[in-house]
Amino acid sequence: MILASLALSGSAIAADPESAFRGKRLAEANCAECHAIAQVDQSLDPAAPPFRQMALRRNLATLRGEMTGDLFLRHAAMPDFEPDARQADDLVTYMESIQE
Ligand code: HEC
Repeated sequence: MILASLALSGSAIAADPESAFRGKRLAEANCAECHAIAQVDQSLDPAAPPFRQMALRRNLATLRGEMTGDLFLRHAAMPDFEPDARQADDLVTYMESIQE
């Protein structure tokens, strides 16, 4: 586990600012109506965890795969949103860039 996270934190994808920017735009369009998506905002839906604290709840490395799987089908409150692999990657890269 430690080795895996070291390997991932060193990847070029996680540090890709263009990917993080695309992820931010996706979050603004699809997630911000419920989740806090930036660094000092509050979630409009109090039940929705702020994106900047997502690493406390989820392994962000595996969240990419979960988002292209059934993550958005499992919670009734979640939007009808089916990101492709690149969109899921962009969203998580953005989340990684704002973690507290
Ligand atoms: C309609 C409101 C709403 C929208 C829009 C929404 N979410 Fe959520 N989301 C929630 C709520 C409420 C929860 C908490 C659900 C629970 O834990 O049962 C949640 C939980 C999550 C979780 C799991 C967190 C955990 O508990 O481990 C992730 C990841 C997530 N949302 C990502 C996103 C992303 C990415 C988007 C945009 C593409 C998005 N959500 C859009 C309401 C929303």
